[in-house]
Amino acid sequence: MVIGIDIGCTTTKAVAAENSKIIGTVKTKAYDAITSASGALGKIIMENNIDISQIKKLIITGAGSVKIKRNIFGIETYKIDEISSIGLGGMYLAGREGIVITNIGTGTSIIEADKDKITHLGGTGIGGGTIVGLAKELIKSTTFDHILNLAEHGDITNVDLLIEDISDSGISFLNNKTTASNFGKMLDSANREDMAIGILNMVYQVIGMISVFAAKSRNTNNIVITGNGSKNPVGKKILEEISAIYNIGFEFPSNAEYATAIGAALSKEDLHKSVEKE
Ligand SMILES: Nc1ncnc2c1ncn2[C@@H]1O[C@H](COP(=O)(O)OP(=O)(O)OP(=O)(O)O)[C@@H](O)[C@H]1O
Ligand SMILES: [Mg+2]
Repeated sequence: MVIGIDIGCTTTKAVAAENSKIIGTVKTKAYDAITSASGALGKIIMENNIDISQIKKLIITGAGSVKIKRNIFGIETYKIDEISSIGLGGMYLAGREGIVITNIGTGTSIIEADKDKITHLGGTGIGGGTIVGLAKELIKSTTFDHILNLAEHGDITNVDLLIEDISDSGISFLNNKTTASNFGKMLDSANREDMAIGILNMVYQVIGMISVFAAKSRNTNNIVITGNGSKNPVGKKILEEISAIYNIGFEFPSNAEYATAIGAALSKEDLHKSVEKE
């Protein structure tokens, strides 16, 4: 058995793989990378009745993996870079090769993944962290579910300047309900609910649009969405609106928040670096 651990900027995910099949997943959050990694390992062992002696190796990835400099609990521990992990995990979840993946985590990265080559196309610092950070200051809320709840009751027309505010008809292929300027209206009467949907709209529109351009530049009409940001129901709706305008499909595989950890767990040896040999 192999355990893949993805120590992200916000959450740590671990998956257990046996004969290249995923048999367990866990998510956790801790203050530092070492506690996160060892905690995730402990949790996956307990929740899946795994005997520690069954574990052949640990493969760690994600921003926090740089902090791990020794084998964890005496188990051979290797590192793999995050981009390769996302690419491999994305292909596993999509069930095919030759795809473009947008990983929405704390930040956002866009990756092209093919059988023999995984390429980092680019990304943006606009991501899940932007939602949480702006919500803390603008709507004094830090609980993710609360932010979503507020957004579901918000009115975007109080925050965003829409095309209908500046024109009697649509512009080019955009109808009059499309955002012309995120936060460009911002009425004094806008409440927390309105600002919550304004934040989500801005974040997912930016992510959606850079994904569209990335897909078009790679001649595909499909994007696989991974990361915890793929689980956001309000964000999903915003991406689907973009999908209808630009004729680009967004795919939300189940377990997409584990894509990076899955990619690490399923990766081949030639991509691994022993933590003890750095
Ligand atoms: N319960 C939740 N459901 C959906 N999204 C959530 C939930 N809780 C937090 N998030 C969002 O997910 C983001 C973190 O996503 P994820 O765990 O994929 O990132 P990460 O892997 O830690 O970061 P990165 O990949 O950028 O290093 C948070 O910033 C927040 O916006
Ligand atoms: Mg991540």
